[in-house]
Amino acid sequence: MISNSINAARLLDVFMGSEPAPKNNDIVEGIYVGKTLAYNLPFFLNSSRLINPHISIVGMTGSGKSYLLKSMIMRLYISNNVNILIIDWSSEYSQLVKDLGGIVRSARGNADIPVEHLPEGILSIDLSEIRDPSIAGCTARNALLEVSKSMSRSKLNEKVRWVIVIDEAWKLADYEKVLGRLFREGRKFGFSIIVATQLIKDVNNEILANAACCFVFRLMGSENFDALSSSGLLKHNDIETVKSLNRGTCMVSLHTRKDIEKNFAVRIDGFSFKSYLLSYSGVKMKVSLESISNAISKMEICTEDRLKLFRFFDDAGQSLDLIQVIGAMMEIGIKRVEMISFFSELGVDETSVAISIESIKKV
Ligand SMILES: Nc1ncnc2c1ncn2[C@@H]1O[C@H](COP(=O)(O)OP(=O)(O)O)[C@@H](O)[C@H]1O
Ligand SMILES: [Mg+2]
Repeated sequence: MISNSINAARLLDVFMGSEPAPKNNDIVEGIYVGKTLAYNLPFFLNSSRLINPHISIVGMTGSGKSYLLKSMIMRLYISNNVNILIIDWSSEYSQLVKDLGGIVRSARGNADIPVEHLPEGILSIDLSEIRDPSIAGCTARNALLEVSKSMSRSKLNEKVRWVIVIDEAWKLADYEKVLGRLFREGRKFGFSIIVATQLIKDVNNEILANAACCFVFRLMGSENFDALSSSGLLKHNDIETVKSLNRGTCMVSLHTRKDIEKNFAVRIDGFSFKSYLLSYSGVKMKVSLESISNAISKMEICTEDRLKLFRFFDDAGQSLDLIQVIGAMMEIGIKRVEMISFFSELGVDETSVAISIESIKKV
């Protein structure tokens, strides 16, 4: 679970090859992705420390690309307050988008302009009703051209406000041209582009060179390895590792603003559906582990306290009492104002929190 490895990170206060130990900022600003293979440390992707917010994902069919995309979409949407647009070829993302309260827009043909104005929130362009793959490809390209126009109309602002997700990018007609522009100019407008595809040679070098984060899942075939080594993305040893990766594990390559390139292997952890029943003042409220993580990440507390709190929830059973949680927070030494902001993030009113704090103090 998250907490055990965070614990390991705390204890392992040493330099660990190129595996990045999580920093407080990463936990707050980044999204949780999974755990490193060598030291089992939690890996938080914090694009503000990278040269740009773009991500490329490569790997053979079934290696875990879409699973990673779905987890990232969930976490980005829930905790980073960004808008998301997904190009969805087979309606694979429809349920996820609906679960998050978003819009699924079904595109019917080439003449159809599926996005004219980028709406806020989460939107997927569902291309599954278009039978002809070349028409689906053109429709997706047209949608991205509109995105590109919207981008040019928006204000210059590097803070990421839009995430554009393109799974199976090789299906996109003339994709190098459309994606090239989004990759080159996206950063200054706060647009993050995430592209996933099966073959490394599908991703042209400009896109690879312009994605500060690349996830390489299992690949096969000498042409892929040749393309991988000529891209300079991974070192020789890491390319060997890619050949034997299991489903759901990948090599990560990061290009930081300090011009450091890091490569390490990560096991992807899916979005957690663990949830708790929190009871207080006669109310029973369902809260997910992810929304708890999100509320923890917004608290102004030190890393050590944050990790203790993660660990408390990780180890706790599914039924929680408000007094029990507040008791644990008091033991950690968390201030009253932080407790109130944590619970208000979850939707618990301030009065109930205050009453619980007083009742513990009296004992
Ligand atoms: N990290 C993971 N943990 C658990 N199951 C995974 C993981 N990654 C992939 N899977 C499962 O493996 C299958 C294939 O993954 P998928 O992401 O669809 O592969 P791809 O998109 O690369 O073809 C799916 O059923 C998915 O749920
Ligand atoms: Mg897939």
